[in-house]
Amino acid sequence: MKTKFALTVNGAKQRVTAEPGTPLLYVLRNALKLTGPRFGCGLAQCGACAVLVDGKEVRSCVVPVDSMVGKKVVTIEGLPEVWAQQKGIAPNSQTLHPVQQAWIDEQTPKCGYCQSGMMIAAVDLLSKNPNPTVAEIKDAFTNTPPSPHLCRCGTYAAIIDAVQRAAKVMNSTGGPA
Ligand code: FES
Ligand code: FES
Repeated sequence: MKTKFALTVNGAKQRVTAEPGTPLLYVLRNALKLTGPRFGCGLAQCGACAVLVDGKEVRSCVVPVDSMVGKKVVTIEGLPEVWAQQKGIAPNSQTLHPVQQAWIDEQTPKCGYCQSGMMIAAVDLLSKNPNPTVAEIKDAFTNTPPSPHLCRCGTYAAIIDAVQRAAKVMNSTGGPA
């Protein structure tokens, strides 16, 4: 039976109606029209659907919406606000999170399908480790649960460069996200 859920997504309170057990990804994309998180495998094995929940990466394709009540969900669309809050400035949709800007500066995406999840993983990593080595970046994107982040276009080298670029900017302007 459909039920109403109160969620906090990208800093805003949202009320959605869904069957209990509906994957968070479906609610984000279909009800809230947040299309940054993507459906890749649907099995928590590729990372295309990654979002932050209370600051940590989760795979929204396998997380039931009812488990998100009382938690803070951030999609890639909400990263500028995360950065603004961290810096103590007014949210400005024109100011990207340094991870997003680094992805542009390094021209990281090819088809782009996986890249929302890659950036979410980068924000999570930099919040725990503001100066990751190449080995630590590789480890975060491959060995850290729930599973590796997969890119069928093979942008892995550019992702490493972008994470390191973002780290430099964040360390010089505002600390970890
Ligand atoms: S779509 Fe969720 S991990 Fe692949
Ligand atoms: S950029 Fe195409 S799947 Fe990663």
